[in-house]
Amino acid sequence: MLWGHLKVMGQVQMSNPPRAAAQTLFYALREKYNLPDVFYLDLWPITVSYMVIINPQVMNQAFGVSKGSQSLPKHFMVKRFMEQVGGYEGNLVSSEGIQWKKWRAAFNPGFSLTQVMSLVPQITEDVVRFRDILLEKAKNKELFRLEHDTTLMVVNIIGKLAMDHDFDCQRKSNKFIDALHNQVQWIKIGVRTRPSEAFDPRRPYMFWKNNRTMDKYIGDILEDRFVQYKSKGKQKKIAIDLALEAYMKEEKGKTMEQTTKLDKQFKAEAIEHIKAFVFAGHDTTSSTICYAFYKTMQNPEIAAKVRAEHDAVLGPDVWDAPNVIAAEPHILNKLDYTLAVIKETLRLYPAANNLREGIEGQNLKDPATGQEYPMFKHMVVWPVNVSMHREERFFGPRANEFLPERWLHPERAEFEMDKEAFFPFSKGPRNCIGQELAMQEMKIIMAVCMRVLDVEMAYDELHKLADDGSGYPGDTKGEQFGDEAYQVQVATAKPREGMPVRIKARV
Ligand code: HEM
Repeated sequence: MLWGHLKVMGQVQMSNPPRAAAQTLFYALREKYNLPDVFYLDLWPITVSYMVIINPQVMNQAFGVSKGSQSLPKHFMVKRFMEQVGGYEGNLVSSEGIQWKKWRAAFNPGFSLTQVMSLVPQITEDVVRFRDILLEKAKNKELFRLEHDTTLMVVNIIGKLAMDHDFDCQRKSNKFIDALHNQVQWIKIGVRTRPSEAFDPRRPYMFWKNNRTMDKYIGDILEDRFVQYKSKGKQKKIAIDLALEAYMKEEKGKTMEQTTKLDKQFKAEAIEHIKAFVFAGHDTTSSTICYAFYKTMQNPEIAAKVRAEHDAVLGPDVWDAPNVIAAEPHILNKLDYTLAVIKETLRLYPAANNLREGIEGQNLKDPATGQEYPMFKHMVVWPVNVSMHREERFFGPRANEFLPERWLHPERAEFEMDKEAFFPFSKGPRNCIGQELAMQEMKIIMAVCMRVLDVEMAYDELHKLADDGSGYPGDTKGEQFGDEAYQVQVATAKPREGMPVRIKARV
């Protein structure tokens, strides 16, 4: 067939709302044509071919989880995408082999659960700032895009975890954040739907300029941090200190006591990694938070259960909750229902993708049937999370419903699930390094905000935000899977138009 599967893909795109996220289209495609667990798509000459995987066992081979398998490399499109962000292929998201392994090992302790728990008081400070901003907006009856504010909070938290730096960007403008925001706007253009804009001659200059600003900003923080670290002696170490220690030991054979200057190579590489953390962590977490609010507010009985749990665990004084959490971070482990809400949000609205590159001459195999699936050069091997997460075979007859209870009562027949099919943070060695941070952060946000405010969707007022300079496309409309806040593709899968809302104070 000369045009491969472009026609059917085009039809699926047409029958879904504008800019619907790519993974949702692959889900729709499979549903429409009742396609098998693993299917191929030939999208020549628009893009490369795809192997789409809706089978946990075949996926586990692609992710290097099954015995004897190795994680396939990230697809070259991921590498090109990250180059726009970092200008360099060596960042943690897209690097491979020894280079990736060395840096992942160096950064792992900085993202561990223990490390994240030690930062709970600082994370809580940022969440309180966020809550207060929302309450001010409630007072001013402001219409705004929730995703904008959740993103600023999340970036601020990443700055603290990674570098012990307060971007202080929730209320004020910040050079790094402005450059980041501008970079994302230029990345958005040309990603899909309007490829002609990819050739805008201003793009390379803007990428270079924004990268220069971001690199200088992070470079200065690293220099300062190094001086502090050396002068203050033993103090609480954060991700960048731990990575520096590991690097000096491995690469230079020196202890930190023997180190007098911040190593030039370390600095250059660390800048790329920090930018990658901000890029990989900011919109994924902020989108998930938006959807957690969206679904709890849409289901008053779920919201009531979340609030009742917060009353029971954190005490009746809603303003005191941040102090309770900061004083006893492990109390977060008692928020079982809140955790179930977050997991359910991640199941129905997974924000990130898992594109791998096929290896010519190798096959993936379905161990149940023995069927082999050959891979080809440049082929995208794609386990599609939206599709697996919404499949009745894995999550039961009510797979498309938002039911936090399924995580609390897996013993009930109606909630029977195949946990292998749940992978919002991917799986195997290349899983998300920031997942502990994201999970604790989302629990704190729910715990601090849910009892003091209501979030009301305002898609019917979207036109009033048309000229707010936010860079959201403004041309989306309609619903997908019954959601007006459907997932659109702007780099990752985000709530349409940044989720326009109004806030109502509850206390
Ligand atoms: C709800 C929030 C988040 C979701 C859903 C999410 C999801 C994911 C997924 C699916 C991957 C695998 C990508 C692939 O296979 O190509 C990934 C990787 C990654 N994530 Fe996250 N992420 C979240 C939050 C964060 C945060 C907060 C950070 C950092 C501060 C972060 C940093 C990274 C990095 C650096 C990688 C690459 C890891 C590697 O390849 O070694 N993520 N994330």
